[in-house]
Amino acid sequence: MLDLHVPPSRPLIAASILSADFAHMAAECRDVLDKGADLLHVDVMDGHFVPNLTMGQDMIRALRKEFPKVFLDVHLMVERPGDYLESFAQAGASMFTFHAEVSQPLRAAERAGIDAPALIDRIHRAGMAAGLAVNPPTPLDRFALFANLLPQLDLVLVMSVNPGRSGQAFMPQVLDKTTWARQHAPASCRVEMDGGISPANVAQVTAAGTEVLVTASALFGATDRAAVINALHAAKLRH
Ligand code: DX5
Ligand code: ZN
Repeated sequence: MLDLHVPPSRPLIAASILSADFAHMAAECRDVLDKGADLLHVDVMDGHFVPNLTMGQDMIRALRKEFPKVFLDVHLMVERPGDYLESFAQAGASMFTFHAEVSQPLRAAERAGIDAPALIDRIHRAGMAAGLAVNPPTPLDRFALFANLLPQLDLVLVMSVNPGRSGQAFMPQVLDKTTWARQHAPASCRVEMDGGISPANVAQVTAAGTEVLVTASALFGATDRAAVINALHAAKLRH
């Protein structure tokens, strides 16, 4: 399985299955993996943190059975990620990414904000890598409150659309958080970006420090998926 702790020599592509044809999920995943996608990105939504609902542990279990060696990058857009942590680990998730916006200090303890250091510890004890995501409206100075967690994290995920669905326009104003994350995180921690990424904007995404590119509509919606993967792989990394 892919070792995300090793700095990659070219951008890694996380195919977001939200834009795949759900009636043919295994074939869709096999197609993009055969064409060079490096990992599968699975978006979990609870109807509270974001208005939408998507998929859960059963999808992870099915993907893990079909693809025993593929890195499953699970993005939890949910209010209470801790409620599902062990069940995602048992289902076969490789990475468990939760949001800064549901965590203290962005959400106060009295409003059931997550204790992020304790959650990261639990994620690791359950055998998964730990990621922290940040939404576009959360500014750098608020996100920087999590700086002391960077040595514990395996991934920082900077959202470049407001989460909830695929196919939205890329928001370049989030790139300052990417640059900050790449500058402050240890070499073993990857920086990922999610939302609206395509061959048209990938150069600015990687120039800011992104190493893992999430892509849903630009990949699954393309007539030539191999060309999209090749174009994203060809983008220059910052270091
Ligand atoms: C958005 C999800 C993304 C989404 C990306 O809420 O987190 O992973 O699938 O879709 P595109 O690449 O179409 O913006
Ligand atoms: Zn996502």
